[in-house]
This record gives sequence, C-alpha cells and structure tokens, in this order.
Amino acid sequence: MRFIKTDDYEGMSKAAAAIVTEQIKTKPSSVLGLATGGTPVRMYELLIKAYEKGELDFSQISTVNLDEYKGITRDNEQSYFYYMNERLWKHTNIDPKRTHVPDGMVADAEAVCLAYEQTISDLGGIDLQILGIGHNGHIGFNEPGDVFEDRSFCVELSQATINANQRFFATADDVPKEAYTVGIGTIMSAAKIVVMISGEDKAAIVKEAFTGPVTPKVPASILRFHRDVTVIGDAAALGLLPE
Ligand code: F6R
Repeated sequence: MRFIKTDDYEGMSKAAAAIVTEQIKTKPSSVLGLATGGTPVRMYELLIKAYEKGELDFSQISTVNLDEYKGITRDNEQSYFYYMNERLWKHTNIDPKRTHVPDGMVADAEAVCLAYEQTISDLGGIDLQILGIGHNGHIGFNEPGDVFEDRSFCVELSQATINANQRFFATADDVPKEAYTVGIGTIMSAAKIVVMISGEDKAAIVKEAFTGPVTPKVPASILRFHRDVTVIGDAAALGLLPE
C-alpha cells in the first residue's frame, strides 16, 4: 500500500487525476471503476480539462460504477448515473455504450447483480478502480457487517450512510434505503486501486482502516490485502496515521 499525502483537496485531486491520465495514456481501452460522492468531483473536472486540451481520449475507455440507489431513475438528479453523466461523461468523447452503472429501476436484485458481474467479466475486469471511503469505513456501498460480501448485491443502507447522503436530498426521508453495489471481491479483483480521501472528518476512519484489524466491520480495511493500492489523501485526512 502506497500513501501519497497532499497539502489539500486540490492536491489530492491532481494526484488522482495524474494516475487516471497515466492509465488512459498507457492503455487507451482501459476499464475504469468509478466512484461518485463529493471526493472525486474535482478530479473529474481535471480529467475534463485534460480532455479539452486534447491530452486525453476517452473513445475506447469503458467505465463501471461502484453503485447505484435502488428505485431511482437514471434521469433523477440524485442517481449516480446522472452524477456521472453531468460530472464526466457528457463532457468527453466517451461512448455511452461503454459506460455502466447498475440499473436501480430493476426490482429483481439477483438479475441486476448477476448481469453487472457479467458485464465486468465480459470487459475483462477492472484495470483501475477509484474509491472513496465513507465515515463508517464503507467502500462502494459495502457497509460494515459480519462478512465481506464477495460479488454485487443489493444492500440495505446503514443509518449513518443515509444521514451522510442526506446533504444531497431535500430530507433524510428522500434518501433511498437500498442500493446496488459491487462486492468486496469485485473491488479486490481490480488490477489497481486508488483510494481518495479528503478532510479531517475522515481521519479517524482512515486510521482505523489502515492501522487497525482487517475486518468486515471496517470494510476498507480489506484493501490492505490488495497488492496495488495507492491511498491519496490530504494532510487532514491522513493526519492520524503514524508518520
Ligand atoms: C460512491 C461510493 C461511496 C463513496 C463514499 C465517500 O460511489 O461508492 O463509497 O465513495 O461514501 O463519499 P464522499 O466522497 O461523498 O465522502
């Protein structure tokens, strides 16, 4: 596990964008595993800037998102599909057919999850997975629990996650209670993983995940068993880690 400590959010975003840029240049047909949330917003802006300057070509890139709320349509502003389109895809030359997000409107969870795993496997697996970490240690929507879920599944969101995501909705009641997420095994099968973390409010969970026991109670802790993980965090987020 490598740690890159940056001064601030901007530095974290630049460092992550540099790794994604390198990945796309080295392998123009890369499969990128993408995250939503607040953390990667600036990184996506930087990737769009690089595309506009002619430095990046997304035409052969495929993307596979980590998760999607259940019961929300793709044109709902809170859907992760909508987020990705607004924050990255529509500003690049990515082929919409190569962008993948679990379909939150299909009620049959088993069918959605099996199809999603099949898509990832048909693509040949994920070359570079981008991750954020929830305050409770979740990655994707793999919430703290008694087991590491292996492959994609339908998850009941924890109250902590519902509360954290309420900032994007009018009220806590509007936050969906369930989501589709790739599993821990799916994430761990990615060739490379970049974890982005920013802010003092993440410092405690960062310390727990990367220095405490590896346990499904802190899902991000499993990342220590992956052989190619780069954690990019600003000084505030990495502040409680030993030097
Ligand atoms: C998003 C996702 C989540 C977030 C995590 C951190 O697709 O899978 O695990 O990465 O909740 O969210 P932010 O970046 O908003 O702190």
